[in-house]
Amino acid sequence: MITIQDKQFEDFISSVEITEMVSSLASKISEDYKGQIPLIIPVLNGSFMFAAELIKQLTIECEVEFAGVKSYKGIERGKSSTGWLTIDNYSILNGRDVIVVEDIVDSGITMNKIVSNLLVHSKTVKVVTLLYKLNKSVFLPDYFGRELDDEFVVGYGMDYNGFGRNLTDIYKLK
Ligand code: IMP
Ligand code: MG
Repeated sequence: MITIQDKQFEDFISSVEITEMVSSLASKISEDYKGQIPLIIPVLNGSFMFAAELIKQLTIECEVEFAGVKSYKGIERGKSSTGWLTIDNYSILNGRDVIVVEDIVDSGITMNKIVSNLLVHSKTVKVVTLLYKLNKSVFLPDYFGRELDDEFVVGYGMDYNGFGRNLTDIYKLK
């Protein structure tokens, strides 16, 4: 058990289990994209750790472009995501097979918007997420490591109020 700020979290997914999930996702993706050179877009901040380990294990050629998600400006600021990624020049997507890397899909609203926006420019878009809250999400990822119920988790890149991203295991809220 660990404490982060005012909340207690219990052991949930060990680093050994995470490594197994990442390896299996990397071999599926390497198989499916054999002969292609996908453009991999990890969505910051949460996916940085997962993306790094996943990409190291791919056996195909690929390019990598990290991006954040833009929030609405003005009165909507901070409330919701536009679904547009912080990519300077969207022409890098033209004709590309894009793989979006996400840490966790919750309501699925962010990924729904990101994918529909990316599809305007790119040839194909697939999404790989480490965790997927299947009963909450309106979005079905192409690849996921593990399904969750409606649990709040931290660690391995994922945060509670900005903390916990550096943990090597994943913990869930008690
Ligand atoms: P969605 O649009 O509701 O699917 O939100 C997805 C984003 O919310 C993810 O990319 C995470 O950054 C964040 N998020 C969702 N669930 C959790 C969680 O359990 N722990 C930490 N971050 C989460
Ligand atoms: Mg995220």
